[in-house]
Amino acid sequence: MLDIKDLTKVYGQFTALDKLTLQIGGGELHGFVGPNGAGKTTTMRILATLLLPTSGTAAIEGVDVVKEPKKVRQLVGYMPDFFGVYDHLKSWEYLDFYARCYGFSYAQRMRMIDQLLELVNLQDKRDVYVDSLSRGMKQRLCLAHALIHDPNLLILDEPASGMDPRARAEMKGILRTLKEMGKTVLISSHILPELSEMCDSLTIIDHGSLVFSGTVEALSRKMRGQAAVEIRLLPQQDESQLQAAAEELRQFPGVTGITRGEGCDLSVAYEGDEQGAADMLRKLLRAGVPVMDFHRPPMNLEKVFMEVTRDDG
Ligand SMILES: Nc1ncnc2c1ncn2[C@@H]1O[C@H](COP(=O)(O)OP(=O)(O)OP(=O)(O)O)[C@@H](O)[C@H]1O
Ligand SMILES: [Mg+2]
Repeated sequence: MLDIKDLTKVYGQFTALDKLTLQIGGGELHGFVGPNGAGKTTTMRILATLLLPTSGTAAIEGVDVVKEPKKVRQLVGYMPDFFGVYDHLKSWEYLDFYARCYGFSYAQRMRMIDQLLELVNLQDKRDVYVDSLSRGMKQRLCLAHALIHDPNLLILDEPASGMDPRARAEMKGILRTLKEMGKTVLISSHILPELSEMCDSLTIIDHGSLVFSGTVEALSRKMRGQAAVEIRLLPQQDESQLQAAAEELRQFPGVTGITRGEGCDLSVAYEGDEQGAADMLRKLLRAGVPVMDFHRPPMNLEKVFMEVTRDDG
């Protein structure tokens, strides 16, 4: 669907994008993650034919973004990170304006506007002026705008930035619907956990270079070294009981360290598998350790992100 090879963008002396190579399959919801200045917007603008690369290639369904920009624009819907909306129009008029640009008939436009407003949950704002919409609503209206020509690939640059939790949840719902419709979606953010929840696969870039690209599972596997077990003992254990529990754990294969948390909490760095974790719990209980809570925390993606984009310089 999307094939990027050695894509490079140099602004003056500054290399914003450095030989980025990346493939995304059709129908994928693909997250594009990186810290501020990583090169996300630069990449997306090149894909949307708004910026020329310095070198390298990018093709959407085999169509080259530099050689055939007009064809690419039919295949791509782009939602920029900062967008202007015409405030003096009503929501439906705003969409109608762009639908006219694409040459749709009146009947087609009226049908499509209703469908799009429903898709982005703005049907009750149809006759409301754009300037009285909230920021999150304007973002959804822009998404509807990006969908007018029924593109196969959607490029969304931080569509959920500044949204409250409820609006984000709604955005996730909309993205799932788009996936069900068979669209391919490339969506950027600097919030890795948020993207990992809604995407099938992820690309992480930093300083214009690829750090990781693959499924969310593959990223988790890569980071398995950071696995841990969190244990909470019944409160008010005395010091000797805590020490005894820590001693039991220390002898367990795969345990590489134990950190005391607040009160009766123990955090165990553990490299074993789930069977091993079950054996560990059994051993503690047999030894009479009063375990109240025992769990493996989900991978802390924020930590992973800090780890993989760490400044080595
Ligand atoms: N027109 C330009 N001229 C010079 N440098 C630019 C230009 N546009 C972007 N840059 C630089 O290129 C780098 C990448 O910018 P880009 O906007 O692609 O990052 P980003 O990953 O989208 O960041 P953010 O998360 O802040 O949106 C930055 O260091 C930026 O300063
Ligand atoms: Mg950006």
